[in-house]
Amino acid sequence: MPPTLATLDPIQLISTTQAVADEARRGLTSTPKTLVPWLFYDEAGTQLFEQITGLPEYYLTRTERDLFTTHADEIFRTVGADLTIAELGAGTAAKTGILLRALARIQSDVLYQPIDISPTALEEAREQLEHIPGLTVHPQTANYVTESVRIERPSHTRILALYIGSSIGNFVPAEASDILIRLRSELQPGDALLLGTDLAPSLSHTGPAKSVAALLAAYNDSQGVTAAFNRNILTRLNRDLGADFRPERFLHRALWNSTHSRMEMHLESLSAQTVHIPANSAGEALTLRFTAGESIHTENSYKFTPARIADLLTTACFTPIRSFNDSQSLFAVTLASAV
Ligand code: AVI
Repeated sequence: MPPTLATLDPIQLISTTQAVADEARRGLTSTPKTLVPWLFYDEAGTQLFEQITGLPEYYLTRTERDLFTTHADEIFRTVGADLTIAELGAGTAAKTGILLRALARIQSDVLYQPIDISPTALEEAREQLEHIPGLTVHPQTANYVTESVRIERPSHTRILALYIGSSIGNFVPAEASDILIRLRSELQPGDALLLGTDLAPSLSHTGPAKSVAALLAAYNDSQGVTAAFNRNILTRLNRDLGADFRPERFLHRALWNSTHSRMEMHLESLSAQTVHIPANSAGEALTLRFTAGESIHTENSYKFTPARIADLLTTACFTPIRSFNDSQSLFAVTLASAV
């Protein structure tokens, strides 16, 4: 989970404001205009994302949770015991408890190392999980995208790394590979990875097929929560940088890009308009001109085929061992070993 301003100390706050200013300048002066998805996750954005995970149209979270509930015992039978668990981008570890409880049933002491940029989310994870008998939680505050992470390895244990929630889908292929390669460099042969990925729509006429319509609904829900999540990125720039965006003058657009196998979110300007970001300690003044219909590209959410998942894993020196899919082939949880 990315940082929320409320969770940062004053030094972090200054460097986060600087990072927001740098990203806003870089993205909004490029053609086409873009913003990086981590900007979504201020306090309001984090709450909106939590709401999204419970929406009827957003099948990703509940499908992965169901896969954990159904297959947790099988996952640990396959990997074997004597494990230490480390999780990239753990957030509040809401779904991870299902896996940790299953492991704690077959292993008397379990060390769980959630890694996340938000100390508050990690504290919540600890509070939720520490009552599991035999579980010790060692949280680590780090940005796994830009920093290398430290994974503890108590003697006689192997590491099972978790990277779930299809978080990997928010990165372009080169970044996704880099994240897995960096993770692999912290592991040893015999360690394992559990990767959660949202699946690409299928054209199958024989089995149940995932439709593009289901994807479009997941990113454009009927209650407008995803639209509010998308527009909140502008509200954040207003608050953090003193910009004068009028979020209601931008339309939330979610579209399927079949060439890149990804959902995209955009904010489309409803009219020709000018937006100002004033000069402040984080940067010079910026005047942004939008034509009617021009959009800011705010997020990619890649959807994977089984072949693409295998390719991503193999490139990072992991061998896929087993894949657990739901009956409608919406989502995959893939177990892989480090080679
Ligand atoms: C966090 N991430 C995996 C979500 C996704 O589905 O790409 C973020 C999200 N964007 C819109 N809805 C949810």
